[in-house]
Amino acid sequence: MRRYSRITGTGSYLPPRRLSNADLVAELAAKGVETSDEWIVERTGIRARHFAAPEVCSSDLGLEAARRALQAAGALATDIDLIIVATSTPDMVFPSTACILQNKLGANGCAAFDVQAVCSGFIYALTIADAMIRTGAASKALVIGAEVFSRILDFKDRTTCVLFGDGAGAVVLEASDTPGILASDLHADGKHVGILCVPGHVSGGNVLGHPLLKMDGQAVFKLAVGVLDEAARATLAKAGKTAADIDWLIPHQANIRIMRSTARKLKLSMDKVIVTVDQHGNTSAASIPLALDAGVRAGRVKPGQLLLLEGVGGGFTWGAVLLQL
Ligand code: ACO
Repeated sequence: MRRYSRITGTGSYLPPRRLSNADLVAELAAKGVETSDEWIVERTGIRARHFAAPEVCSSDLGLEAARRALQAAGALATDIDLIIVATSTPDMVFPSTACILQNKLGANGCAAFDVQAVCSGFIYALTIADAMIRTGAASKALVIGAEVFSRILDFKDRTTCVLFGDGAGAVVLEASDTPGILASDLHADGKHVGILCVPGHVSGGNVLGHPLLKMDGQAVFKLAVGVLDEAARATLAKAGKTAADIDWLIPHQANIRIMRSTARKLKLSMDKVIVTVDQHGNTSAASIPLALDAGVRAGRVKPGQLLLLEGVGGGFTWGAVLLQL
């Protein structure tokens, strides 16, 4: 009998401090940085974001999302034999956020590691977990995207600080004799490192370089719309499906204009796209599982439906996963 992986539970968590565009505009104005609700909504579709309290880390947000996913799957922490956390804002340089989260969750002993592929991180992590389950290396995995991007934003740079927020999303992925994950497609092109990066590192007790996010927004936009379309088509082709078969497109939640462009290229109505970017901004690796969980809990995304998840981010990295829920 063939062995597949399938999602049996989803969960997500946003920290309680919510800033509407108006709240952020007022905070930035006090620092002499000028922006507006109109500019942010028109260029990005973002209306609000959540920021974690100073003592709260990615593992704390991921823990809440993981607990909710476990509850939805009817699984116990002790059933889990693999934890993968996708994050670019880890709690520490090391050990991994996955190990810290594992201990908080009480799943000690299982394999646990982080994946760093920025906003494509959840797609990478899900693909790795699927491969490990199919080969028998794991049977019940927690795949988590968790970020505190507010920690790496330059609040003097209006071209980036209005775009990002904090949050986490998680899924339980289990071995199954029916699919599940049907196909995936991962890519990276390191020649684009400079267009989206946090170009600093720790050395001799100091941070060398610039420890805050830098982005060439227009270059990112142009690359993103091209590679997302390619990844979507390649993944569908691997499974012998077409865009017309998709029930829901669940893209990385960075910018409504990128999502509209992706949907248009695939000839999909926006009614088939889960959009949550308005509520939490770009939460990097957390955004896809956040959107998935919102769709599931709203009763829109239903068991048996065909979902195309796709992400793009710093690296440059991109990829997609096609799955039957
Ligand atoms: N408020 C008001 N004005 C602003 C702001 C702001 N927050 N930011 C920039 N502007 C101004 C600029 O200064 C510029 O003014 P000028 O014409 O007088 O020079 C004007 O707005 C236009 O700036 P552009 O950069 O050309 O604006 P653009 O239409 O390209 O939108 C944006 C910028 C939203 C960043 C867009 O390029 C974009 O969405 N890029 C993709 C970003 C993205 O999705 N990144 C994440 C993907 S990967 C990942 O998630 C990590």
